[in-house]
Amino acid sequence: MALVRATDKKVGAEILVVGFTREPGAKSNKPRFTIESGDMAIDKAGLLDALADMGATGAADEVIKLPASGYKLLVLTGLGETNSSGIYPHESLRRASGAAARSLEGQVNATFSLPYDSIEALAAIAEGALLGAYTFDEFRGSSKVERRPALKSIEIFTVKAKKKEVAQVLRRAEIIAEQTHLTRDLINTPPSHLTPDSFAQRLKKIALASGLKVEILNHTQLKAKGYGGIIGVGQGSANPPRLLHISYQPKGRASKKLKRFAFVGKGITFDTGGLALKPAQGMEAMKSDMSGAAAVSAAVIAIAKLKLNVAVDAWAPLAENMVSDKATRPSDIIKIYGGKTVEVLNPDAEGRLILADALVRAAEVGKKLGGLDGIVDVATLTGAQVVALGTRTSAVMTNNEKFRESFLDATQRSGEQFWPMPLPEELRPSLDSPVADLANIGDRMGGMLVAGIFLKEFVSPELPWLHLDIAGPAFNEGKAHGYTPVGGTGVAVHSLVALAEAAVSS
Ligand code: BES
Ligand code: MN
Ligand code: ZN
Repeated sequence: MALVRATDKKVGAEILVVGFTREPGAKSNKPRFTIESGDMAIDKAGLLDALADMGATGAADEVIKLPASGYKLLVLTGLGETNSSGIYPHESLRRASGAAARSLEGQVNATFSLPYDSIEALAAIAEGALLGAYTFDEFRGSSKVERRPALKSIEIFTVKAKKKEVAQVLRRAEIIAEQTHLTRDLINTPPSHLTPDSFAQRLKKIALASGLKVEILNHTQLKAKGYGGIIGVGQGSANPPRLLHISYQPKGRASKKLKRFAFVGKGITFDTGGLALKPAQGMEAMKSDMSGAAAVSAAVIAIAKLKLNVAVDAWAPLAENMVSDKATRPSDIIKIYGGKTVEVLNPDAEGRLILADALVRAAEVGKKLGGLDGIVDVATLTGAQVVALGTRTSAVMTNNEKFRESFLDATQRSGEQFWPMPLPEELRPSLDSPVADLANIGDRMGGMLVAGIFLKEFVSPELPWLHLDIAGPAFNEGKAHGYTPVGGTGVAVHSLVALAEAAVSS
């Protein structure tokens, strides 16, 4: 993990990252550019002409490296356009510094001097740089020597370098980036090396080291206590299922008006589809089917490290959805924790089954601890999500519009793209079963919403609930962009932390 610090000393012979953009309306064949170097004055002589001659556009994700006197390297990162108030959206800054950091693999340190309108903008620059400085080479053998490590040390140039608030937001950026990197590492780790048990043990170690409480239910305990969803999904695999519970309770503060959230993440360490076997093409991406579990676990660790004055329980039902003579058959009936029965018509609709168990349990425990202010599940739940919103926008569904608004507010600060989706009542009857309380699949059309409606059956209407379907954004099968690498992205970690932060201040 790279480290970040603020500096107000002008660099000598260092790598300097600045922003640039093409001036609007400059349509002539010799476009004009603006170099945005924030608080650092730099000698622009010759640069603007060079950019024009190179055919630069200043668009997002364009990174140009130039030799320039006084620096080891001058890196110009495209900022895209300002908003209507003439400022660069914080997410544009985050992405621009992320793209620059990605382009600096193999380098040790770089100084970032980008335009900012507030401490939050400065934080976004640091976040982007830290998030962009990520590589995953753990499983390389002979090719490891050819790989260049991620940027190690990031300096943010600002005249406010000595301000306490700046140190604070940079520390926060490091914590969020560290936990996002953990999430990405878990997603990128192949299922041969990440089983339900090894996931749970790995998180236990990290969570205990951060002062959190951890409980892991094993296969026997899950069976004895009636977790029919987790057992039913996991029973086809030689790697038995687990339920991981990480809890954070802030220390030494009056717990009276303390808010409490539960985060529940889908942890399918590999989804073959079970007896509804998925086609071979694309199945490899199903190593990412535990992205929700990784995100909620990492988020609660980040919240603890930030010492936020809010209580959070993370729940990760973990199972491997495999094919075997033990696997759940289409038409089998399972009993979810709490007693509802489900006819499993399609063993590939497994996420909702393990989430149902965990949602019921999380609400039960939350109630015992004095009541939950909200419950959020995070899941790579449906292919329909990707069809509807593509690979970079996640969906948010809810039983409580106010809670959804506060979450969407939080995403304005995290920069992660979420879009509200409905849970239309008329889709509910499609989940009726002739033999059980519910079937695990319904109408094929609107499959993302049907999955949300299924989960809603396991949440009390009085409990504010959000369902985040991150199927597309969790795993980047395309090219790297902004601060997002290829593979696991770590989406939702930052937004969950931002949601918890909002609960502290309100
Ligand atoms: N893990 C998949 C959903 C998924 C698909 C995630 C693509 C990421 C990318 C989930 O378990 C699944 O298989 N869902 C089925 C549900 C269907 C059988 C109702 C789907 O979406 O096809
Ligand atoms: Mn599936
Ligand atoms: Zn799945």
